[in-house]
Amino acid sequence: MADHSSFASTEQCVTKHLHLIFHVDFNSQVIRGIASLTVESQQDHLRTLVLDTKDLKIQKVAVNGQTTKFALGESHSFKGTPLEITLPFELTRGQDVIVEVSYETSPKASALQWLAPELTAGKKHPYLFSQCQATHCRTIVPCQDTPSAKLTYYAQVSVPKELVALMSAVQDGGAPDPADSSRKIYRFRQNIPIPSYLIALVVGALESRKIGPRTMVWSEKEHVDEAAYEFAETEAMLKIAEDLAGHYVWGQYDLLVLPPSFPYGGMENPCLTFVTPTLLAGDRSLSNVIAHEISHSWTGNLVTNKTWEHFWLNEGHTVYLERRIGGRLFSEQFRHFQALGGWKELQNSIATFGATNPVTNLIPDLKGVDPDSAYSSVPYEKGFALLFYLEQLLGGPDVFMGFVKAYIHRFAYKSVVTDDWKTFLYTYFQDKVDVLDKVDWNAWMHTPGMPPVKPEYDMTMSNACISLSQRWSKATESDLGAFCAADIEALSSHQHIEFLALLLLEEPLPVTHVKRMQEVYSFNGVKNSEIRFRWLRLCIRSKWEQAITLALKMATEQGRMKFTRPLFRDLYNFEKARDQAVAMYLERRPFMHPVTAMLVGQDLKVVTAQ
Ligand code: BES
Ligand code: ZN
Repeated sequence: MADHSSFASTEQCVTKHLHLIFHVDFNSQVIRGIASLTVESQQDHLRTLVLDTKDLKIQKVAVNGQTTKFALGESHSFKGTPLEITLPFELTRGQDVIVEVSYETSPKASALQWLAPELTAGKKHPYLFSQCQATHCRTIVPCQDTPSAKLTYYAQVSVPKELVALMSAVQDGGAPDPADSSRKIYRFRQNIPIPSYLIALVVGALESRKIGPRTMVWSEKEHVDEAAYEFAETEAMLKIAEDLAGHYVWGQYDLLVLPPSFPYGGMENPCLTFVTPTLLAGDRSLSNVIAHEISHSWTGNLVTNKTWEHFWLNEGHTVYLERRIGGRLFSEQFRHFQALGGWKELQNSIATFGATNPVTNLIPDLKGVDPDSAYSSVPYEKGFALLFYLEQLLGGPDVFMGFVKAYIHRFAYKSVVTDDWKTFLYTYFQDKVDVLDKVDWNAWMHTPGMPPVKPEYDMTMSNACISLSQRWSKATESDLGAFCAADIEALSSHQHIEFLALLLLEEPLPVTHVKRMQEVYSFNGVKNSEIRFRWLRLCIRSKWEQAITLALKMATEQGRMKFTRPLFRDLYNFEKARDQAVAMYLERRPFMHPVTAMLVGQDLKVVTAQ
């Protein structure tokens, strides 16, 4: 079983534990590190081992204290550079050694964004955060950067003493740095084995507030109160998740609100979920992202995809749990409403990639494909749709949850592929094999485009969105006067999102329509990022010139890729906005997150000078 995204071979040896010493240097934008890996040989006569690195300067390698030979191989565009270490002695199967690598990261490390004080909320102190998923851990730690290997880690991080360091682990004290009185050392322990992509670090002027028995929110002080309000449901969600999936094993569940350039909605770093500030809607309406990241504590962080081809195991099950939590907090109708929204999202994604594009397979082939470029809603929503379909086929939510819980229990602390999941499904439902055999597995898993069957959805909450969106898409100019503010007053913000999402699946509205929509619904003034995002896309697609400035502003003032990439793409496809979009991208690029900068650059067909 090869991992096409890594040079490391877990067939020869596996890393069991990692001890990290980090010195974070904001002046030169590098981390100086010593990584000590406890490596266990999986075979006799092991003489060499290969670690993943990317843009790392390797200074020295020692094995059990003995300096040893190493060589960097040929560089690959997204996989980086293999580090081949020659062991000073042969290892036998089961034998452990400590491989100590001294190194320095590059200022362009793709896992890191270094923010100057001006780009922070407080404007006084610099800020650093990491995002390792999927294949960026190798830019900060030389390691077996594959989710098929799981390790515990301890870390000590030296930072300027006015700043706070946090990691995806339990905090284990802090002390002045004995080597430098202007600095402080923070210590961390992660005693549960995790894949490398869950290693995370943040350094900044961070403050915290306790919002539950095991939860603190962390952010710059400017956002702490807002965040405490927005995420107040966290403990209730954790309790529901435990009831559904089993004991929460990670101890602490903290939340960190990052600066606006954080490229994702949320990232399930163990003990410390990272989230985008675009969740701060003021009304808790975007808390499904928290339910989602909480759910990863079981699906993803306990049961982990063995390679990125099986990413749907992480995300599909997590979306399933996320929606079960929403169902309990609100209603079963709400769960169905979210599920149908997901189906529309899948349609949208497949329309963007093309229905024959192999990356729209539930299990894509990632040989030679950068997981960041293949990233889409497909593993989330095709994965969810499969589970929701199976739930209906096999006896309903309670019966199916029995399976999901047993699956988690069976594979906790392990890494799995789809066949492990499927074999377990057939074992669990051994009295329903005839039903399972009716599933068109090949169409679901290995065929691009929409799934072969559509599950059934309760339409109670969706109908209002559908009928209003149809009124707009069928309206002629003379009908426009009939629309009024009251059309949307009785709808929730989730329904506003869905209404706009439905219009985005249709042919663009005439510009007269979007102008009228602004008159009656005033969407230009809405802060909720999910509504604003879809509204501005709708305007740009209708070629409303006045919306160009607003769309460019949203695309650059925050950097969540889910918003920034489609906004830039739509602007690029609007001839009146194209040059401005490209110019704005080039101007902002030095301040963008490295992964966002790379992907938006590809979207805008900007050729990068090497
Ligand atoms: N683990 C993902 C984010 C991710 C995936 C980062 C792949 C890098 C590579 C996270 O759990 C996630 O799915 N976030 C979503 C949340 C949404 C589905 C509720 C997001 O960022 O929008
Ligand atoms: Zn996720």
